[in-house]
Formats: sequence, structure tokens, C-alpha cells
Amino acid sequence: MRIAVLNGPNLNLLGQREPALYGHQTLAEVEAMVREEAARLDCTVSWSQSNHEGALVDAIQQLPARADGLLLNAAAYTHTSLAIRDALLAVQMPFVEVHLSNLFARERRRRDSLFADLAIGVIVGFGGFGYVLALQALHRRLHGARPEA
Ligand code: DQA
Repeated sequence: MRIAVLNGPNLNLLGQREPALYGHQTLAEVEAMVREEAARLDCTVSWSQSNHEGALVDAIQQLPARADGLLLNAAAYTHTSLAIRDALLAVQMPFVEVHLSNLFARERRRRDSLFADLAIGVIVGFGGFGYVLALQALHRRLHGARPEA
């Protein structure tokens, strides 16, 4: 099973960026945790981060040839990007939306995601460990587990 992980703007600064909200782990440390869990689940991971909306759209367009499922933290583009929503609709790739912080405990505008209704599910508020939870949930669903299973 091939899992793509796409990270949006400013996530390259994890560890230094607003640690009270996002934690002290770097993005590389989150990646290492995800790769360890992926190895246990027998998945391959392609990991990327971009600060650019168009680059994220390009990456999503290329998913069908490269991945069976997607973990997506589009960061601030979650709340603004119709272009990313359109790309997700175009490729129909099963995905789990992840956020490090609990969006529901923050400013009102962060509660709105332009992708959440397209996702299998959304995981928020568990820091980097949320990526591991998202990987487990995606893996399980791609193996055919029903939502209630
Ligand atoms: C974030 C939440 C977004 O609102 C914010 O713009 C981010 C990170 C998160 O992981 O908590 O950059 O996606």
C-alpha cells in the first residue's frame, strides 16, 4: 500500500513555530514517526511539504499514478483553497485530513475546512501523533474496513 503525505505552508517550521500550538517536534521527526508506523503496517510513504498552493495542486494531480491513499495537512490552505478542493475532487483519492492543533479550540475561521466533507475523516488536536492515527485509520479503511468496524 502506497501512502502519500502532503504538508502545506509553514509546516517546514514545525518545532520553532508557535510551539504552544504545534508542539516541539520538527516535521522531520513527525515524518520519522509516520515512517516507523508505515513499516509496521507494510506501507510505503512518499512525504512532501510545500509552501505553494500550485505545487500542492500539482502533487495532488500526480497522486493517481503514485499512491493508494493520502494524508493531507494543507495548513492554512485548508481554510482558503478552492483550487486544492478541485484537485481533490478531480483525483478522487481517498484521504484523511490531519491537523496538529485542535481547530475547534481556535479562531472561528479555522473551524471551516474546504476539504473535510471530501475526506474519509479528520483528525485534529493530537500534534504529530495525529499523523500516526491518520495513517492507521487510512490503512484500515483501504483494507476494506467499514466505518463502524
Ligand atoms: C494547521 C492548522 C491551520 O489552521 C494552520 O494554518 C496551520 C496548521 C494544523 O496542523 O494545526 O498552518 O493545519
